[in-house]
Amino acid sequence: MSDTATRLRGKDLLGIAGLTAEEITLILDTAEAMKEVSARPIKKVPALRGKTVINLFYEPSTRTRTSFEVAEKRLSADTLSIAIASSSVVKGETLIDTALNLEAMNPDIVVMRHASSGACHLLARTCQAGIVNAGDGMHEHPTQALLDAFTIRERKGRLKGLKVAITGDLLHSRVFRSNAYLLTTMGAEVWACGPPTLMPAGIARLGVRPTTRVEEAVEGADAVMMLRIQLERMQGGFFPSLREYFQVFGMTPARVRLAKPDAIIMHPGPMNRGVEIESEVADGPASVILDQVANGVAVRMAVLYLLAGGSDDETAA
Ligand code: CP
Repeated sequence: MSDTATRLRGKDLLGIAGLTAEEITLILDTAEAMKEVSARPIKKVPALRGKTVINLFYEPSTRTRTSFEVAEKRLSADTLSIAIASSSVVKGETLIDTALNLEAMNPDIVVMRHASSGACHLLARTCQAGIVNAGDGMHEHPTQALLDAFTIRERKGRLKGLKVAITGDLLHSRVFRSNAYLLTTMGAEVWACGPPTLMPAGIARLGVRPTTRVEEAVEGADAVMMLRIQLERMQGGFFPSLREYFQVFGMTPARVRLAKPDAIIMHPGPMNRGVEIESEVADGPASVILDQVANGVAVRMAVLYLLAGGSDDETAA
């Protein structure tokens, strides 16, 4: 691929793994244009007019589902969200059968979140529609990593050469995996911190620097990202208690002071306040947590637009 990508390869966005630095830059640059659309009095362009997008969320979501819906409407797509609890999934219909039945209605893009790692890949092989992974099990959450990178780049002007500390439940986190792929591809130095029981096997193969000392991870960092302790994915005792987890790994004002003076504080949400992050840090002046949410709309507009094969003219209208 040349230095400047003008389109994404393939019909799907299943993960960050496999994207080139040029493709990531294309999405981030396109998201900048989309952010400008969201700042207009009339926040709507015809880029996806006549296209149908289905949102299929098998797991709960506040930020991802809402921001995909907002993004789809701002691009003028015909959009609908399947409520799993009132669908035939509760009668035992399989993922593939559900997908084939939705496919029969000829959607252009299906955005899916699922508890099983690889579920989106299965759907992509089954369906003609483009598939966007909105989080699959413990595997990837590509649009979250893209909006995180967009937020860092917006604040720091670049990704290359920055120190980014990611602390928390690395083992169960699709956000961690996608961020590790993306930030290392873009030349950032990623430190990954958590208890040894919450470190994925072979973590160093992701190109990150693992540590169990939060102070080492945070020292001199440009961005500090906390990850949620995912109690719903834990069956055993990964650490003695939430109180002790906070004492050893929780992000406190004292720990934040080890980072660069202009460091930004990030969290993909939802937060466990008082577990991985103290409220004074989450709500403090360095926090960009709500900027991440706002940027999620622009990034998801960019992804949908690029997968639908839009042209520059359509964002200008
Ligand atoms: N960050 C994130 O994926 O949040 P939701 O689970 O609310 O979508």
